[in-house]
Amino acid sequence: SRGLCMAMERTYIMAKPDAVQRGLVSDIIGRFEKKGYKLVALKLVKPARSLLEEHYDSLKDKAFFPSLMDYMTSGPVVAMVWEGKNVVATGRTMLGATNPLESAPGTIRGDFSIEVGRNICHGSDSVENAEREIKLWFGEGTIDWSSHSQGWIYE
Ligand code: TYD
Repeated sequence: SRGLCMAMERTYIMAKPDAVQRGLVSDIIGRFEKKGYKLVALKLVKPARSLLEEHYDSLKDKAFFPSLMDYMTSGPVVAMVWEGKNVVATGRTMLGATNPLESAPGTIRGDFSIEVGRNICHGSDSVENAEREIKLWFGEGTIDWSSHSQGWIYE
């Protein structure tokens, strides 16, 4: 079937330091797994400030940037690459709105967080940014593996 041979879209998903501290990593991973997306890279890392400055380069002039850097360097994060149909946009829908008070119940941020500066997860906002972020966080590459469930997930 087409789903099996199509070049699948990929996105960069990150459990932020508060998600690690609060034990929410398994829930974030579980939601992407149960949806049917495929995990192709994962690591626990304590990111350098310089890496985060590059990751959030488009926000460097914002007033909240220094506090964002302090938050994101406050502990380890879980960096992941997930693969599947429309995973960039659907991943953002699963995360919920940037401000958790505006995130719908049922989304990750909507269910587990209150403040924009403690919103527990990151997801790439476009296919172009996903490619940029995957290169930045996983320069060593991702894992190619065949998932035997794909024929049951894609028609
Ligand atoms: P942004 O890229 O606008 O949102 P998203 O993470 O949904 O793509 O902002 C990046 C992060 O910056 C956001 O997840 C939390 C933080 N942030 C604040 O702390 N205050 C703010 O007012 C905004 C807009 C973002």
